Amino acid sequence: MMKSRILVIGGTGNIGRHLVAASLDAGHPTAVLVRPSTAASSDSGKAELLNSFKARGACIVYGDMNDHGSLVAAMRQHGEVVICAVGHGRPLELDGQLKIVEAIQEAGCVKRFVPSEFGCDVEHAEQTLEPAKSMMESKLRVRQVIREVGIPHTIICSNWAIGLLLSGLGENGPLSTGVNIFGDDEKTRAIFLDEKDMSRLAIRAVEDPRTLDKVLYVRPPTNVCSFGQLVHLLEKKTGKTLERHYVPEQDLAKKIQAGNGAFNLGPFRVVHGRLRRVRWVEATQLYPDVRFVTVEEYLDGIIV
Ligand SMILES: NC(=O)c1ccc[n+]([C@@H]2O[C@H](COP(=O)([O-])OP(=O)(O)OC[C@H]3O[C@@H](n4cnc5c(N)ncnc54)[C@H](OP(=O)(O)O)[C@@H]3O)[C@@H](O)[C@H]2O)c1
Repeated sequence: MMKSRILVIGGTGNIGRHLVAASLDAGHPTAVLVRPSTAASSDSGKAELLNSFKARGACIVYGDMNDHGSLVAAMRQHGEVVICAVGHGRPLELDGQLKIVEAIQEAGCVKRFVPSEFGCDVEHAEQTLEPAKSMMESKLRVRQVIREVGIPHTIICSNWAIGLLLSGLGENGPLSTGVNIFGDDEKTRAIFLDEKDMSRLAIRAVEDPRTLDKVLYVRPPTNVCSFGQLVHLLEKKTGKTLERHYVPEQDLAKKIQAGNGAFNLGPFRVVHGRLRRVRWVEATQLYPDVRFVTVEEYLDGIIV
């Protein structure tokens, strides 16, 4: 069976680069929409990345999410499936996806759109403070619009990206000064997923009729980890006893509001209970053959 042509927007980003690699690994004709300014920039990391994509057979297409014509042309040529991984770091980047929706409507050839999500379920997040609040509201707006206008889609809720969150915990990371524990060290839990595992699943999901117009939750029980378990693992790996600094939830909220960069507890919560309204499927049930890199295995790779 011919594999769908996949167009990735945001393929030079932290998450997008794994999606491009997974699409190539799975044998999809893969195109990456890149801003001309990025392709021409002196950022050697991005130049290397683009060269590595090209060497593996990806097609680099020049365009911009804010340039309607370039989007429509890229979709008509390369985009049976469009996966977006624009970031949350810059204002309006996530909302820019509404322009992708307009282009999908005009192109008329896109059979699946995966918007930039790859995190917690924004329809069920609680007690979220800025800056996460605005990010989640943007993602929610995009969800609402794609449902309203009837764009075939799959939303990937893959919880925490393990590399982005934990890669700084290596031998020379922040551990020398101990650890901050936000809230209760056993009840504060999160699901950590390797970006490569998440991307492999996303690429499988875009061809799967069971994930059409659904939220795909990726919640392997093996990858749920509490703060206490994480600290315990770090102690086991480093052979150090870590000084624990307990930060009560209300103090953490104050720190977040003061903008000191502490974690926002909202997205840290594991989604519990019954999920109403949203049509969803669970990746571990759809793809029982997938084995996920666990937090312990990931730490094995970064702490030597
Ligand atoms: N679950 C988690 O733990 C976690 C962690 C991080 C991110 N995320 C989510 O994953 C998604 C991607 O985030 P990220 O951190 O990977 O983003 P990122 O590293 O900031 O990358 C953003 C990408 O979007 C591209 N882009 C930005 N504006 C564009 C435009 N106008 N036209 C075309 N391309 C444009 C950038 O291209 P340039 O190279 O040209 O800048 C880059 O490739 C977001 O939804 C984010 O919330 C989840």
